[in-house]
Amino acid sequence: MNITIVGPGAIGCLWAHHLSTHGHRVSLWGRENLSHKTIQLDAQAPLRLPYNQLPALQEADLLLVTVKAWQVEDALTPLLDNIDHDCIVMLMHNGMGTADWLQDVLPNNPLVLATTTHGALRISSSHFEHTGTGFTHFGGINTAGKQCAFLQDVFNHALPEALWCDNIEQALWNKLAINCAINPLTAKYSVRNGELAQKEYHPQLVCVVEEVHQVMEAEGIAIELNTLQSKVDDVVRLTANNLSSMQQDISHQRRSEIDYITGYLLARARAHQLELPYNQALYKDIQRLEKTFEQN
Ligand code: PAF
Repeated sequence: MNITIVGPGAIGCLWAHHLSTHGHRVSLWGRENLSHKTIQLDAQAPLRLPYNQLPALQEADLLLVTVKAWQVEDALTPLLDNIDHDCIVMLMHNGMGTADWLQDVLPNNPLVLATTTHGALRISSSHFEHTGTGFTHFGGINTAGKQCAFLQDVFNHALPEALWCDNIEQALWNKLAINCAINPLTAKYSVRNGELAQKEYHPQLVCVVEEVHQVMEAEGIAIELNTLQSKVDDVVRLTANNLSSMQQDISHQRRSEIDYITGYLLARARAHQLELPYNQALYKDIQRLEKTFEQN
């Protein structure tokens, strides 16, 4: 396939590397002023890929957008006129709340949402590390997008394990629960994910998950509270040594994804007249931290 990756950060370059070495024609689109960019994953041979080349964008069969949720509109708006009508547009980011905008601006394209638990780290502007293997779930959000189940083979072949979901909402909510539980707490206390299993933090994690579960029930997402809690505990254990993305954003004084994680949860809770005191307090804590950066 002709694939353009918009926002080639750590996760974008992880996929760029794997898709390119599995026979796809991959190009990158980002904020640097380059015609080609060399990227290296772990100790593997560096790859030189086209960068910001308009013909590659116009010919793309798949646009894989790996910018953060709050950057999606700014990254895609200037590209809209050059995206072919048949091009599949796939968003892959933490959090929820970008799908409506995407459907408004590209109603006729096949649209797909994806979520991954692969870990990747940027060592330098061109060197990336695959820090943990995970799962990628994806699924269509409009009629044309729902017909793209063949992408499971494309992605699974390049970097397993990738699973096509007929109901992507369920997978996105499961991941939202994981992010609501792990990200704000690790950012607030500046700890690694594994610390949240300790008795100092775990009761808070349990309260956060209980509240997320209430909203999932109200949204019609069927999952037992115990199952959801186990999923979150599994990720805490499996990524024990990881610094969560929000912990990294806050410690580097960058804007975090809180508005699309806890913020999205709170917006859905309001729609169902539910109050979520634990999540509300964490949302305020992270917003307060972000405000201190603006003042610096
Ligand atoms: O945002 C993150 O860091 C990741 O989604 C996760 C799964 C919480 C692991 O660190």
